Amino acid sequence: MAKNRLIAILPGDGIGPEVTEQAVRVIECINAKHDTGFEIKTEPVGGTAYDIHGTPLPDSTLELAKSADAILLGAVGGPKWEAIERQHRPERALLGLRSELQLFSNLRPAILFPELASASTLKREVVSGLDIMIVRELTGGIYFGGPRGIEGEPGDRKGFNTLVYTESEVQRIAHSAFQVAMQRGKRLCSVDKANVLEVSELWREVVTAVGNSYPEVELSHMYVDNACMQLVRAPKQFDVIVTGNMFGDILSDAASMLTGSIGMLPSASLDSNGKGMYEPVHGSAPDIAGQGIANPLATILSVAMMFRSTFHEAALAGIIESAVQSALAAGLRTADIVSDGETAVSTQEMGDAVIDRIG
Ligand code: IPM
Ligand code: MG
Repeated sequence: MAKNRLIAILPGDGIGPEVTEQAVRVIECINAKHDTGFEIKTEPVGGTAYDIHGTPLPDSTLELAKSADAILLGAVGGPKWEAIERQHRPERALLGLRSELQLFSNLRPAILFPELASASTLKREVVSGLDIMIVRELTGGIYFGGPRGIEGEPGDRKGFNTLVYTESEVQRIAHSAFQVAMQRGKRLCSVDKANVLEVSELWREVVTAVGNSYPEVELSHMYVDNACMQLVRAPKQFDVIVTGNMFGDILSDAASMLTGSIGMLPSASLDSNGKGMYEPVHGSAPDIAGQGIANPLATILSVAMMFRSTFHEAALAGIIESAVQSALAAGLRTADIVSDGETAVSTQEMGDAVIDRIG
């Protein structure tokens, strides 16, 4: 019996539409083969939405995102929209969705696919077998704190933002991270700047207290500057990292690059009920948009993450992940992960290869 399960597709800008197209084909293929009845509805977001509706997050898009059980987002942004006023920039749509839907827990895995070990700029032994998860707080911290603004007379202005976390905000992201750690290697490293910032002092205290409910998880703390260094020096020391919004933004970019294949990494942004927005970690890549050469695997793997986390369909997630693995093992490579002397396949061909291997 097929259940009704609504997935909102927000293709967005740049390569977003190309990569989500392949992910939609994967969902349709799963529907056809497994009678899963996932329903799909699509709305524009980001610069594409601004061009049509004059805003990057139109009401119709927000309404769809709210009514859906899960959201798949391609990417937003591009040079075309860089000059418009701040509140209309494509990135505002992303921040608006996160905050309106209270998607406070952002999971960003950095996994090195064995087939792609040579893609990393780091030595093979430093990264081979890498599998870490960054849990980034996504709806608080300096991104959303007030007061904020730019004030004063020209020549004498000041710009300011506020880094603020309440105890309850830290508690919920800490619980989220400990739960992730329980499903993995049971080691959690909380990253802060408690040697300088009061907000980090509180963060550390609250995370430690939440840790009492997870006696099996080994908790450690690290200053963010050191964490940055350790990520490139010896990344395999980490299992799960939990950190605030801005530190998480920075550390997750560094972590994704360890794998050398940012085109492969999915992510999830979850609320407290398991609803989530899933997106590839890579951005809109305007330089290659429209050429049909983007790697769709991060978006396809985001669907797997969605099936596992929101729909509790671990078996279906596994089918997708195995299909991706098998396509890589068969030597299929898009331009971003191709080695010298190999021929790159197109976005569509990579989508075909995954679909051929499902079922
Ligand atoms: C990310 C991005 C966003 C962020 C931007 C596009 C607003 O860098 O998802 O990491 O800073 O959170
Ligand atoms: Mg970022």
